[in-house]
Amino acid sequence: MKINFCIFIVLFVYCISSVENNSGFDHFWLVLSWPPVYCLQIRCERKPTDFVLHGLWPVNSTGHSLKNSTNGTPNFYSMLRNHSFGIEMDEHWPSLGSKEGRDPYKHIRFWEHEWEEHGSGQPYGDTYYLQSAIRLRKSVNLLRILRIKEYFQMEGVTGKLGTWMQ
Ligand SMILES: *[C@@H]1O[C@H](CO)[C@@H](O)[C@H](O)[C@H]1NC(C)=O
Ligand SMILES: *[C@@H]1O[C@H](CO)[C@@H](O)[C@H](O)[C@H]1NC(C)=O
Ligand SMILES: *[C@@H]1O[C@H](CO)[C@@H](O)[C@H](O)[C@H]1NC(C)=O
Repeated sequence: MKINFCIFIVLFVYCISSVENNSGFDHFWLVLSWPPVYCLQIRCERKPTDFVLHGLWPVNSTGHSLKNSTNGTPNFYSMLRNHSFGIEMDEHWPSLGSKEGRDPYKHIRFWEHEWEEHGSGQPYGDTYYLQSAIRLRKSVNLLRILRIKEYFQMEGVTGKLGTWMQ
């Protein structure tokens, strides 16, 4: 029970500029994983000590994920030719179960999964979308906020950080 509360934290990211389309897009969910608890459930080769991206999910006004299967999966292989982009994706959006060592290519299946299940209905260009996810992750220092607050409240349950964040 306790474990399930802490695996993912979802922040709501509203877009300042309105997006003109008919997809029902309303806002994004910035979904972050907390590796120390996530890695109790799966075997992690690498265990970051800060929140990492799980995904940036476009949703409609009632919080349902938007998919658009005609919006093809980004070509991550070609995108990773940009070395700095690869370094950032590896640091902030890693697939935690993959082997130790810095090689962004090993996360591609995870990114493709996130895109196909939760990202394909996003209304922007692929590169802009992925870079925005990284930018948002970097701009939210959730760990610091939680430490300052010392405790947090989730789904009606209040816990001390030391207890919840193992
Ligand atoms: C789905 O994606 C295609 C290709 O990017 C786009 O032309 C279309 O407008 C999108 N549909 C919706 C409902 O957003
Ligand atoms: C959001 O999406 C869900 C699932 O596709 C749909 O049932 C619901 O009507 C949508 N809500 C709005 C306000 O568009
Ligand atoms: C390469 O990636 C970095 C980091 O995401 C980005 O700032 C830069 O604009 C990208 N360069 C090109 C040519 O796309």
